[in-house]
Amino acid sequence: MSTYLSGIQPSGMQHLGNYFGAIRGHIEAQERGGEHFYFIADYHALTTSRDPSALRERVRETAVTYLALGLDPERATLFRHSDVPEVCEITWLLSCVTGMGLLERAHSFKDKTTKGIKPSVGLFTYPVLMASDILIYQSNIVPVGQDQVQHVEMTQDMAEYFNNAYGEEVFIRPEHRLTSTPKVPGIDGQKMSKSYGNTIEIFARGKPLKKRVMAVVTDSKGLEEPKDPTTCNVFTLFSLLASEGEKMELAEKYRGGGFGYGHAKLELLAKIEDYFASARERQEELQNDPDFVEDFLLTNAKLARKEARETLDAARKACGID
Ligand code: ADP
Ligand code: TRP
Repeated sequence: MSTYLSGIQPSGMQHLGNYFGAIRGHIEAQERGGEHFYFIADYHALTTSRDPSALRERVRETAVTYLALGLDPERATLFRHSDVPEVCEITWLLSCVTGMGLLERAHSFKDKTTKGIKPSVGLFTYPVLMASDILIYQSNIVPVGQDQVQHVEMTQDMAEYFNNAYGEEVFIRPEHRLTSTPKVPGIDGQKMSKSYGNTIEIFARGKPLKKRVMAVVTDSKGLEEPKDPTTCNVFTLFSLLASEGEKMELAEKYRGGGFGYGHAKLELLAKIEDYFASARERQEELQNDPDFVEDFLLTNAKLARKEARETLDAARKACGID
Protein backbone atom coordinates (compact mmCIF):
# COMPACT_ATOMS: atom_id res chain seq x y z
CA MET A 1 0.00 0.00 0.00
CA SER A 2 1.26 3.48 -0.83
CA THR A 3 1.70 6.09 1.86
CA TYR A 4 1.50 9.67 0.59
CA LEU A 5 2.84 12.55 2.62
CA SER A 6 3.18 16.25 2.00
CA GLY A 7 3.80 19.34 4.09
CA ILE A 8 1.85 22.54 3.60
CA GLN A 9 3.23 25.93 4.50
CA PRO A 10 0.87 27.71 6.92
CA SER A 11 0.32 30.68 4.69
CA GLY A 12 -3.23 31.48 5.83
CA MET A 13 -5.69 32.85 3.29
CA GLN A 14 -5.09 30.94 0.12
CA HIS A 15 -5.70 32.08 -3.45
CA LEU A 16 -6.75 30.50 -6.74
CA GLY A 17 -3.09 29.77 -7.60
CA ASN A 18 -2.70 27.77 -4.39
CA TYR A 19 -5.96 25.95 -5.07
CA PHE A 20 -5.25 24.85 -8.65
CA GLY A 21 -1.50 24.44 -8.10
CA ALA A 22 -1.54 22.50 -4.83
CA ILE A 23 -4.68 22.12 -2.69
CA ARG A 24 -6.87 20.53 -5.35
CA GLY A 25 -4.18 17.93 -6.10
CA HIS A 26 -3.81 17.05 -2.41
CA ILE A 27 -7.54 16.65 -2.01
CA GLU A 28 -7.98 14.61 -5.19
CA ALA A 29 -5.13 12.27 -4.21
CA GLN A 30 -7.35 10.83 -1.48
CA GLU A 31 -9.40 9.17 -4.27
CA ARG A 32 -6.42 6.97 -5.15
CA GLY A 33 -6.49 4.79 -2.06
CA GLY A 34 -3.50 4.27 0.20
CA GLU A 35 -2.68 6.29 3.29
CA HIS A 36 -2.51 10.09 3.10
CA PHE A 37 -0.74 12.34 5.57
CA TYR A 38 -0.79 16.11 5.24
CA PHE A 39 0.62 18.38 7.86
CA ILE A 40 0.70 22.12 8.35
CA ALA A 41 4.36 22.91 8.66
CA ASP A 42 4.52 25.29 11.62
CA TYR A 43 7.98 24.07 12.75
CA HIS A 44 9.10 24.90 9.23
CA ALA A 45 7.51 28.35 9.43
CA LEU A 46 9.74 29.20 12.41
CA THR A 47 12.63 29.62 9.97
CA THR A 48 10.99 32.95 9.10
CA SER A 49 8.06 33.67 11.47
CA ARG A 50 8.51 35.92 14.50
CA ASP A 51 4.83 36.55 15.20
CA PRO A 52 3.29 33.82 17.41
CA SER A 53 -0.34 34.91 17.16
CA ALA A 54 -0.13 35.33 13.38
CA LEU A 55 1.39 31.85 13.10
CA ARG A 56 -1.39 30.28 15.21
CA GLU A 57 -3.99 32.06 13.12
CA ARG A 58 -2.42 31.00 9.81
CA VAL A 59 -2.24 27.37 10.90
CA ARG A 60 -5.94 27.46 11.78
CA GLU A 61 -6.89 29.18 8.52
CA THR A 62 -4.93 26.62 6.52
CA ALA A 63 -6.72 23.76 8.28
CA VAL A 64 -10.09 25.45 7.68
CA THR A 65 -9.22 25.90 3.99
CA TYR A 66 -8.44 22.21 3.47
CA LEU A 67 -11.51 21.03 5.37
CA ALA A 68 -13.83 23.48 3.62
CA LEU A 69 -12.51 22.49 0.20
CA GLY A 70 -13.20 18.81 0.73
CA LEU A 71 -10.35 17.08 2.51
CA ASP A 72 -12.00 13.91 3.79
CA PRO A 73 -11.02 13.17 7.40
CA GLU A 74 -11.90 9.51 6.82
CA ARG A 75 -9.31 9.15 4.09
CA ALA A 76 -6.60 11.67 4.89
CA THR A 77 -4.87 12.65 8.12
CA LEU A 78 -4.34 16.40 8.37
CA PHE A 79 -2.39 17.56 11.40
CA ARG A 80 -0.11 20.25 12.75
CA HIS A 81 3.61 19.59 12.37
CA SER A 82 4.46 20.55 15.95
CA ASP A 83 1.89 18.14 17.40
CA VAL A 84 4.29 15.35 16.47
CA PRO A 85 7.50 16.44 18.23
CA GLU A 86 9.03 13.03 17.48
CA VAL A 87 10.16 14.51 14.14
CA CYS A 88 12.61 16.72 16.02
CA GLU A 89 14.25 13.72 17.64
CA ILE A 90 14.61 11.93 14.30
CA THR A 91 16.08 15.15 12.92
CA TRP A 92 18.89 14.84 15.43
CA LEU A 93 19.52 11.18 14.65
CA LEU A 94 19.70 11.96 10.92
CA SER A 95 21.86 15.06 11.49
CA CYS A 96 24.52 12.88 13.04
CA VAL A 97 24.91 10.72 9.92
CA THR A 98 24.56 13.55 7.36
CA GLY A 99 27.57 15.41 6.03
CA MET A 100 27.56 19.20 5.89
CA GLY A 101 28.38 18.97 2.17
CA LEU A 102 24.93 17.57 1.38
CA LEU A 103 23.22 20.54 3.01
CA GLU A 104 25.65 23.01 1.47
CA ARG A 105 24.38 21.96 -1.95
CA ALA A 106 20.73 22.82 -1.17
CA HIS A 107 19.32 25.31 -3.69
CA SER A 108 16.50 26.47 -1.46
CA PHE A 109 18.89 27.69 1.28
CA LYS A 110 20.80 29.72 -1.30
CA ASP A 111 17.60 31.08 -2.87
CA LYS A 112 16.14 32.07 0.48
CA THR A 113 19.27 33.79 1.78
CA THR A 114 19.65 35.63 -1.54
CA LYS A 115 16.11 36.91 -1.01
CA GLY A 116 17.23 38.35 2.35
CA ILE A 117 16.01 35.65 4.77
CA LYS A 118 18.43 35.45 7.72
CA PRO A 119 20.70 32.40 7.34
CA SER A 120 19.89 30.77 10.71
CA VAL A 121 21.11 27.28 11.60
CA GLY A 122 17.46 26.19 11.38
CA LEU A 123 17.15 27.42 7.82
CA PHE A 124 20.38 25.61 6.92
CA THR A 125 19.43 22.27 8.50
CA TYR A 126 15.80 22.50 7.45
CA PRO A 127 16.23 19.72 4.82
CA VAL A 128 17.00 17.32 7.68
CA LEU A 129 13.71 18.21 9.35
CA MET A 130 11.95 17.70 6.04
CA ALA A 131 13.66 14.30 5.65
CA SER A 132 12.40 13.35 9.12
CA ASP A 133 8.88 14.44 8.15
CA ILE A 134 8.96 12.06 5.24
CA LEU A 135 10.84 9.12 6.78
CA ILE A 136 9.01 9.04 10.09
CA TYR A 137 5.75 7.94 8.41
CA GLN A 138 7.51 5.43 6.14
CA SER A 139 6.07 7.43 3.24
CA ASN A 140 6.88 6.22 -0.23
CA ILE A 141 5.21 8.95 -2.30
CA VAL A 142 5.84 12.64 -1.67
CA PRO A 143 3.74 14.99 -3.83
CA VAL A 144 5.68 18.24 -4.22
CA GLY A 145 6.35 21.07 -6.64
CA GLN A 146 9.58 21.22 -8.65
CA ASP A 147 11.27 23.45 -6.04
CA GLN A 148 11.06 20.66 -3.44
CA VAL A 149 12.42 17.79 -5.54
CA GLN A 150 15.98 18.29 -4.34
CA HIS A 151 14.80 18.01 -0.74
CA VAL A 152 13.22 14.63 -1.47
CA GLU A 153 16.46 13.48 -3.14
CA MET A 154 18.38 14.59 -0.05
CA THR A 155 15.91 12.56 2.01
CA GLN A 156 16.77 9.47 -0.03
CA ASP A 157 20.45 10.08 0.74
CA MET A 158 19.84 10.56 4.44
CA ALA A 159 17.76 7.38 4.69
CA GLU A 160 20.59 5.50 3.04
CA TYR A 161 23.30 7.04 5.29
CA PHE A 162 21.35 6.02 8.37
CA ASN A 163 20.53 2.50 7.19
CA ASN A 164 24.16 1.96 6.14
CA ALA A 165 25.59 3.42 9.32
CA TYR A 166 23.65 1.03 11.52
CA GLY A 167 23.23 -1.92 9.15
CA GLU A 168 19.45 -1.94 9.42
CA GLU A 169 16.67 -0.98 7.00
CA VAL A 170 14.96 1.41 9.41
CA PHE A 171 13.87 3.88 6.71
CA ILE A 172 12.34 3.20 3.32
CA ARG A 173 13.31 5.13 0.20
CA PRO A 174 10.68 7.75 -0.71
CA GLU A 175 10.04 9.04 -4.24
CA HIS A 176 8.77 12.46 -5.18
CA ARG A 177 5.66 12.82 -7.32
CA LEU A 178 5.44 16.12 -9.19
CA THR A 179 2.15 17.87 -8.59
CA SER A 180 0.77 19.18 -11.88
CA THR A 181 0.95 22.92 -11.51
CA PRO A 182 -0.78 25.01 -14.12
CA LYS A 183 0.58 28.52 -13.76
CA VAL A 184 -2.42 30.48 -12.60
CA PRO A 185 -2.16 34.16 -13.59
CA GLY A 186 -2.83 36.90 -11.08
CA ILE A 187 -4.94 39.95 -11.78
CA ASP A 188 -1.89 41.65 -13.37
CA GLY A 189 -1.10 38.66 -15.61
CA GLN A 190 2.07 37.60 -13.70
CA LYS A 191 2.02 34.33 -11.73
CA MET A 192 -0.54 34.72 -8.94
CA SER A 193 1.35 35.05 -5.65
CA LYS A 194 0.85 36.59 -2.22
CA SER A 195 4.19 38.30 -2.65
CA TYR A 196 3.01 40.13 -5.80
CA GLY A 197 -0.26 41.39 -4.27
CA ASN A 198 -2.12 40.13 -7.36
CA THR A 199 -4.24 37.37 -5.85
CA ILE A 200 -7.89 36.44 -5.88
CA GLU A 201 -8.57 34.66 -2.61
CA ILE A 202 -10.58 31.44 -2.72
CA PHE A 203 -12.92 32.64 -0.01
CA ALA A 204 -13.29 36.25 -1.09
CA ARG A 205 -16.91 37.22 -1.57
CA GLY A 206 -19.24 40.14 -2.30
CA LYS A 207 -17.77 43.54 -3.14
CA PRO A 208 -14.11 42.71 -2.39
CA LEU A 209 -14.29 39.73 -4.79
CA LYS A 210 -15.97 41.84 -7.49
CA LYS A 211 -13.31 44.52 -7.10
CA ARG A 212 -10.51 42.00 -7.67
CA VAL A 213 -12.17 40.39 -10.68
CA MET A 214 -12.94 43.76 -12.30
CA ALA A 215 -9.25 44.66 -11.87
CA VAL A 216 -7.96 41.74 -14.01
CA VAL A 217 -5.74 43.27 -16.70
CA THR A 218 -6.81 42.92 -20.35
CA ASP A 219 -5.80 44.59 -23.61
CA SER A 220 -7.66 47.74 -24.64
CA LYS A 221 -9.91 46.39 -27.43
CA GLY A 222 -13.28 48.15 -27.59
CA LEU A 223 -16.66 46.52 -27.01
CA GLU A 224 -17.43 45.87 -30.69
CA GLU A 225 -14.07 44.37 -31.67
CA PRO A 226 -13.56 40.58 -31.89
CA LYS A 227 -11.19 39.38 -29.17
CA ASP A 228 -8.70 36.54 -28.74
CA PRO A 229 -9.59 34.34 -25.74
CA THR A 230 -6.26 32.48 -25.80
CA THR A 231 -4.26 35.53 -24.73
CA CYS A 232 -6.73 36.90 -22.19
CA ASN A 233 -6.19 36.56 -18.41
CA VAL A 234 -9.95 36.66 -17.78
CA PHE A 235 -10.47 33.71 -20.11
CA THR A 236 -7.53 31.77 -18.62
CA LEU A 237 -8.99 32.12 -15.13
CA PHE A 238 -12.48 31.25 -16.38
CA SER A 239 -11.09 28.11 -18.07
CA LEU A 240 -9.78 26.74 -14.78
CA LEU A 241 -13.30 26.75 -13.34
CA ALA A 242 -15.55 26.02 -16.31
CA SER A 243 -16.64 22.93 -18.25
CA GLU A 244 -15.52 22.39 -21.86
CA GLY A 245 -18.92 23.53 -23.13
CA GLU A 246 -18.85 26.72 -21.06
CA LYS A 247 -15.34 27.49 -22.29
CA MET A 248 -16.39 27.07 -25.93
CA GLU A 249 -19.40 29.27 -25.42
CA LEU A 250 -17.34 32.06 -23.90
CA ALA A 251 -14.65 31.73 -26.59
CA GLU A 252 -17.32 32.21 -29.26
CA LYS A 253 -18.56 35.36 -27.57
CA TYR A 254 -14.99 36.70 -27.53
CA ARG A 255 -14.50 35.99 -31.23
CA GLY A 256 -17.90 37.27 -32.28
CA GLY A 257 -17.39 40.92 -31.20
CA GLY A 258 -20.00 43.05 -29.42
CA PHE A 259 -18.88 41.44 -26.15
CA GLY A 260 -16.67 43.57 -23.88
CA TYR A 261 -14.13 42.61 -21.25
CA GLY A 262 -16.54 43.96 -18.63
CA HIS A 263 -19.04 41.28 -19.70
CA ALA A 264 -16.37 38.58 -19.60
CA LYS A 265 -15.35 39.64 -16.11
CA LEU A 266 -18.94 39.38 -14.89
CA GLU A 267 -19.07 35.82 -16.26
CA LEU A 268 -15.80 35.05 -14.46
CA LEU A 269 -17.17 36.54 -11.24
CA ALA A 270 -20.33 34.42 -11.43
CA LYS A 271 -18.23 31.33 -12.10
CA ILE A 272 -15.94 31.90 -9.10
CA GLU A 273 -18.95 32.56 -6.86
CA ASP A 274 -20.63 29.39 -8.05
CA TYR A 275 -17.55 27.14 -8.04
CA PHE A 276 -16.65 27.85 -4.42
CA ALA A 277 -20.18 28.50 -3.08
CA SER A 278 -20.51 25.43 -0.87
CA ALA A 279 -16.85 25.58 0.22
CA ARG A 280 -17.40 29.21 1.25
CA GLU A 281 -20.34 28.20 3.41
CA ARG A 282 -18.31 25.48 5.10
CA GLN A 283 -15.42 27.89 5.55
CA GLU A 284 -17.69 30.32 7.36
CA GLU A 285 -19.05 27.59 9.64
CA LEU A 286 -15.56 26.33 10.44
CA GLN A 287 -14.23 29.84 11.06
CA ASN A 288 -16.94 30.21 13.67
CA ASP A 289 -16.03 26.94 15.33
CA PRO A 290 -12.33 27.12 16.25
CA ASP A 291 -12.77 24.41 18.92
CA PHE A 292 -13.90 21.92 16.30
CA VAL A 293 -10.87 22.72 14.15
CA GLU A 294 -8.51 22.42 17.12
CA ASP A 295 -10.02 19.08 18.19
CA PHE A 296 -9.79 17.84 14.62
CA LEU A 297 -6.09 18.68 14.40
CA LEU A 298 -5.35 17.09 17.78
CA THR A 299 -7.25 13.90 17.00
CA ASN A 300 -5.40 13.55 13.71
CA ALA A 301 -2.07 14.24 15.37
CA LYS A 302 -2.71 11.29 17.71
CA LEU A 303 -3.03 8.98 14.70
CA ALA A 304 0.08 10.40 13.06
CA ARG A 305 2.01 10.27 16.32
CA LYS A 306 1.36 6.58 16.75
CA GLU A 307 3.05 5.85 13.40
CA ALA A 308 5.83 8.33 14.13
CA ARG A 309 6.57 6.73 17.48
CA GLU A 310 7.05 3.29 15.92
CA THR A 311 9.64 4.59 13.46
CA LEU A 312 11.38 6.65 16.11
CA ASP A 313 11.65 3.64 18.44
CA ALA A 314 13.16 1.56 15.63
CA ALA A 315 15.65 4.33 14.80
CA ARG A 316 16.64 4.80 18.46
CA LYS A 317 17.11 1.08 18.87
CA ALA A 318 19.24 0.89 15.71
CA CYS A 319 21.66 3.49 17.06
CA GLY A 320 21.82 2.17 20.60
CA ILE A 321 19.53 4.57 22.44
CA ASP A 322 16.75 2.45 23.86
P1 ADP B 1 2.63 32.24 -2.79
O1 ADP B 1 3.44 32.46 -4.05
O2 ADP B 1 1.32 32.92 -2.86
O3 ADP B 1 3.40 32.61 -1.53
P2 ADP B 1 3.23 29.55 -2.06
O4 ADP B 1 4.63 29.71 -2.54
O5 ADP B 1 2.96 29.50 -0.58
O6 ADP B 1 2.33 30.71 -2.71
O7 ADP B 1 2.64 28.27 -2.77
C1 ADP B 1 1.92 27.24 -2.12
C2 ADP B 1 1.59 26.20 -3.18
O8 ADP B 1 0.73 26.76 -4.19
C3 ADP B 1 2.82 25.68 -3.93
O9 ADP B 1 2.66 24.28 -4.14
C4 ADP B 1 2.81 26.42 -5.26
O10 ADP B 1 3.39 25.66 -6.32
C5 ADP B 1 1.30 26.64 -5.49
N1 ADP B 1 1.09 27.90 -6.22
C6 ADP B 1 1.24 29.15 -5.72
N2 ADP B 1 0.93 30.08 -6.65
C7 ADP B 1 0.59 29.42 -7.78
C8 ADP B 1 0.17 29.83 -9.09
N3 ADP B 1 0.03 31.10 -9.42
N4 ADP B 1 -0.09 28.88 -10.00
C9 ADP B 1 0.04 27.56 -9.66
N5 ADP B 1 0.42 27.11 -8.46
C10 ADP B 1 0.70 28.02 -7.50
N1 TRP C 1 9.34 22.33 2.30
C1 TRP C 1 7.98 22.25 1.80
C2 TRP C 1 7.61 23.61 1.15
O1 TRP C 1 8.32 24.57 1.34
C3 TRP C 1 7.00 21.92 2.89
C4 TRP C 1 7.34 20.61 3.55
C5 TRP C 1 7.83 20.44 4.82
C6 TRP C 1 7.22 19.32 2.97
N2 TRP C 1 8.04 19.11 5.08
C7 TRP C 1 7.66 18.40 3.97
C8 TRP C 1 6.76 18.86 1.72
C9 TRP C 1 7.67 17.03 3.71
C10 TRP C 1 6.78 17.50 1.48
C11 TRP C 1 7.24 16.59 2.47
O2 TRP C 1 6.59 23.69 0.49
